[in-house]
Amino acid sequence: MFDALTRQPDDPLLALIGLFSKDERPGKVDLGVGVYRDETGRTPIFRAVKAAERRLLETQETKAYVGPEGDLVFLDHLWALVGGETVERSHVAGVQTPGGSGALRLAADLIHRMGGRKIWLGLPSWPNHAPIFKAAGLEIATYDFFDIPSQLVSFDNLVSALEGAAAGDAVLLHASCHNPTGGVLSEPQWMEIAALVAERGLLPLVDLAYQGFGRGLEQDVAGLRHLLTVVPEALVAVSCSKSFGLYRERTGAIFGVTTSSSSADTVRSNLAGLARTSYSMPPDHGAAVVRTILADPELARDWAEELEGMRLRMTGIRKMLAEGLRGRWQSLGAIAGQEGMFSMLPLAEAEVMRLRTDHGIYMPGSGRINIAGLKTAEVAGVIQKFTSL
Ligand code: LMR
Repeated sequence: MFDALTRQPDDPLLALIGLFSKDERPGKVDLGVGVYRDETGRTPIFRAVKAAERRLLETQETKAYVGPEGDLVFLDHLWALVGGETVERSHVAGVQTPGGSGALRLAADLIHRMGGRKIWLGLPSWPNHAPIFKAAGLEIATYDFFDIPSQLVSFDNLVSALEGAAAGDAVLLHASCHNPTGGVLSEPQWMEIAALVAERGLLPLVDLAYQGFGRGLEQDVAGLRHLLTVVPEALVAVSCSKSFGLYRERTGAIFGVTTSSSSADTVRSNLAGLARTSYSMPPDHGAAVVRTILADPELARDWAEELEGMRLRMTGIRKMLAEGLRGRWQSLGAIAGQEGMFSMLPLAEAEVMRLRTDHGIYMPGSGRINIAGLKTAEVAGVIQKFTSL
C-alpha cells in the first residue's frame, strides 16, 4: 500500500530549523521561523510561565481527561484578553485547540460543515493558511494584499475582494502583526472592512497570533474588537505560542462569536465534535499555564511587562533596519512603522540562497525576515550583507 505514496517536500519554513542548526559557521544568523529571541539569542521562558509551572507542579492533583473543549477557565480568561467587553460572553463559543494552527483547522472544518465553500485570502500570507483551508475542503480565492517593492498595503485590492465576495463566503483577516509583511491596517481601514463584511454578509475568520507584539496588548486587538461590534458572526483563531512563549506546548483557541447563547451552544458543540474526530482533546499544560497567569493579577502584570519588553526590543531593531536598508531600497524605511515579528524584503529567491550559502543568513525563499531573531549586535552586519547583494 505505501508504494502508492509519493515523497512529499518538507515544509520549507520548518525545514529551516534543521538547516540552520546543521550550519557550523559561528556568525550564522537565523531570520527564519517566527520565534522570538532575546539579545543573547535565547528564546526565553517568561518569568510568569516559570512561576505558573512551579505552582502547577505543586498543586496539580490529576492528569485525568479534561474534555474536547479543553480548559473552560483558560477560555474565559483568554477571551477577556482578546475580546474584552465587546460581545456578551454567553454569545461566544470557545474551544481550546492545539496551537493557532489547530484553531484555524477547526475553523475551516466548521466553515465547510456549515456549507461555506470559499475563503478569501490576501497574499502573501502565512504559508500554512492555504494548505490548512485546502485540507478542510475549502476553495481559496486570493487577492494581492501587499506590494513588496513599495512596502504598502494594497487596501483597494482588499476592498475589491470584499466587494466581489458572495454572501456566505469566509474572509481571512490578520488581527495585527501581519505575517509575513508586517503591514498595518489603520483604524479607518478597519472600520471600512467591518462595514463591508457586515454589508456583504461575509464570515470573518480573524487570525490573532501575535497579541502584544505590535503596538501593545490592547492596540493589537482594537481593529478586531471594532469588527466584532459591527458584524453579527465571526470566528477568531488565537495562538498563545508567541504572546506567552509557549511554542511547543501547542496552546490556542477558536472562538465563534454568535448572536445568541443558543447559537453559541450549537457552534461550541460542533467545534467540540470536530475536535473529537481529529485529535479528541487538546494538550493541557500550556492552557493550564496561561490560565494560572491570567487568573493571578500579579503574574498577569509580570507577564504583560515582560511581553512589553520584547515588543520594545523588536521596535528598536525595526528602526535600525529601516535606517540601514533605506539607503539601498528607499521603501524599506517603512519597516520602522510596520509591526510584529516579520517584514518582507524585495529579494529574489537566488539572493536569499546566496545570503544563506555565502553568509549563513537564513530566511525563507519569500524574503520574509524574522525581526525578533536579530540581536542588536548583528544588525549592522546583516544590513551590510543585504545592501551589498
Ligand atoms: C512562522 O510563521 O514562522 C510561525 O508562525 C511558525 C509556523 O508555525 O510557521
